[in-house]
Amino acid sequence: MKPSLLRAVLALSLCLRVALLTGQAQPTTPGAPYSFPPADLMRIGVYYYPQAWPAEQWPRDMANIKKMGMEFVHMGEFDWAFMEPTEGKFDFAWLDQNIALAAAQGLKVVLCTPSAAPPVWLTSAHPEVLMIDAAGRQMQHGTRQQASWSVPLYREYVGKIVAALGRRYGQDPRVWGWQIDNELSHYGKEPDYGPASQTSFRAWLRNKYGTIGALNRDWGNAFWSQVYQDFDQIRIPNQQEEVAQMNPHSLLDARRWFADETAGYLRFQTDILRQYCGHNQWITTNHMHDFAAVNPALTGKDFDLVTWTIYPVHGNANEGPLGFRLGSSATLSFAADFMRTINGQTGIMELQPGQVNWGEVNPQPYPGAVRLWLMRAFAAGAKFVCTYRYREPLSGPELYHNGLVGTDGVTPSIGGEQFMQAMREIAALRPLWRADARPPATYTARRAAIFYSFEDRWDLDNHKQNQAWDTYGHLLKYHTALKRLGAPVDVITEDKDFAAYPFLIVPAAQLVDAALVARWQTYAENGGHLILTCRTGQKDRRGFLWEGPWARPILDLIGARIKSYDTLPAPNVAHVKAGDQTHPWSTWGEILDPAAGTTVLAHYTDQFYAGAAAAVTRPLGRGSVTYIGVDSADGALEAQLVRGVYARAGVAVEDLAEGFCVDWRDGFWVATNFNAGAQPAPVPARARLLVGDRNVPTAGVAIWQE
Ligand code: GAL
Repeated sequence: MKPSLLRAVLALSLCLRVALLTGQAQPTTPGAPYSFPPADLMRIGVYYYPQAWPAEQWPRDMANIKKMGMEFVHMGEFDWAFMEPTEGKFDFAWLDQNIALAAAQGLKVVLCTPSAAPPVWLTSAHPEVLMIDAAGRQMQHGTRQQASWSVPLYREYVGKIVAALGRRYGQDPRVWGWQIDNELSHYGKEPDYGPASQTSFRAWLRNKYGTIGALNRDWGNAFWSQVYQDFDQIRIPNQQEEVAQMNPHSLLDARRWFADETAGYLRFQTDILRQYCGHNQWITTNHMHDFAAVNPALTGKDFDLVTWTIYPVHGNANEGPLGFRLGSSATLSFAADFMRTINGQTGIMELQPGQVNWGEVNPQPYPGAVRLWLMRAFAAGAKFVCTYRYREPLSGPELYHNGLVGTDGVTPSIGGEQFMQAMREIAALRPLWRADARPPATYTARRAAIFYSFEDRWDLDNHKQNQAWDTYGHLLKYHTALKRLGAPVDVITEDKDFAAYPFLIVPAAQLVDAALVARWQTYAENGGHLILTCRTGQKDRRGFLWEGPWARPILDLIGARIKSYDTLPAPNVAHVKAGDQTHPWSTWGEILDPAAGTTVLAHYTDQFYAGAAAAVTRPLGRGSVTYIGVDSADGALEAQLVRGVYARAGVAVEDLAEGFCVDWRDGFWVATNFNAGAQPAPVPARARLLVGDRNVPTAGVAIWQE
């Protein structure tokens, strides 16, 4: 037998063994996802790590969690060493005790699979489960997330502990739901480059391409003699072991594989748990809010709701002079508007309670900012918000990380007080919830979608042409432009129905095919207002440029040719003018040549192409197509041009300051102010103000009902 064939057979038999052992081969239990009662609005809860505290304090802590107004407690996340202190010997007595204490207080319980923190007996006996980083170093015990989920043996162990948890608690009415693993990511060292991952990558490629010839063709391997003779010769692309530029097509496939691999691992655990809990308990994982390597949409059907983690203030700049204390409304909103569309139900699993310890600088949040984030989550539809963590640790790697209570273990922290306030406010709204409340037509007329593709993001990030180009920042500029109009926004993936939205923005959607462009065209012809932005349509799905004019497939749609593009090294800045406003730009600008019937909206005012078109629009069928070929420095051009599209469509909009969001949720209007100045809330005279004032201060919140 050829060594490659032998390896494949061995790998297959191991997979089958794991599948049989763990039930992986079972399909996810059919049935409707767990449904969160709308009248509950949003529940609030907190992480608690019983094993980190003396057992005699457990009853006091649980009672105080309840007294603070919390409604659920989250436990067991990294506790594998306590759940299975030695191989095959489980100990759940401590967890049973804490579940009983929580239930006695009327707190719901969220449990976790502990796979992000393997016990030392496991990794000592089987070091082959430890991940290998890009430099070839094997990770070791002493922190967390050191194991590779691509190693079948690791999955075997994970499968056993997940099944043990499912057997014990899957039918327990005190348990509300489950979190799988923790922020699946390998902490930026992604992927694992160990032998199991290499095997998995090759299997993925074999499955995708069938023959090595097809792979060589679609990776453009004729150049630099990159051709392979066999899939077994391929390794996961890794700059640490490649002396020159990496192949962009192999990189794109590696990112696709990694996203599929992590989704498969989440599904592997979910399928085991489902056998025990069905949909009577919900299952989710806590995705990072913007960790582009893992695509939450891939597991949308597996989970009952999609949850995510966010730490808005950790020394990052964010928008405005107070952004470093307030966080970014754009980031919070974009994540919420994306996660919510995946399967319709969303929540925040970790929300920063105060100062953290892992940023380069860890400032205090602005007074009231924690409540502001909670209410931003409420406005964006969260079914629950959980905070990391209850007690500020006195030992371990997260010293200096705030909790809901301080170092004495009982006194509410600054953030703790704000959680209590938010919980009181939500509880006061619940009796006012009405099942028949519907958003007003003036609001739904503004409904917009932003087209979001992880593959585009990966490909753009692999080949920026200007290191200052920021794909995520480009998307956020359009999200901010829409929120300033007071528009409800969904961030949608390609599989969604565009027709549900009067406005559709497609930012930098680089990888296209004829079918996708035809869908955009049909959307506009049928009355949609389509906005495409720079870098859209430049490549096919493999990441190849088109043979023909630049961005060939979209030229008829936008009514212009793209003659060339430019990008400037810092500190050079160029300018573009729209109407009477001039805007700086430097990262990307396309020089457009409009066809007859296309109107120029903006033109360059300097460089050797001064006077050339930068943005154009044209009517199409019952709708319109606008192409914005430049990425401005501050998003003001994007805000101006998007506003223009709404004006030409005759749709009435608001004129809200940046960072001041006004949203409708379940019959309530919610205004949240991330702007450094106080803002007037658009509260009609007849409305009933329930929270806050008409003049909303910085970090303030106003809630009203009409
Ligand atoms: C998150 C992580 C938590 C905790 C937290 C600290 O990224 O999921 O486990 O470490 O950071 O802020």
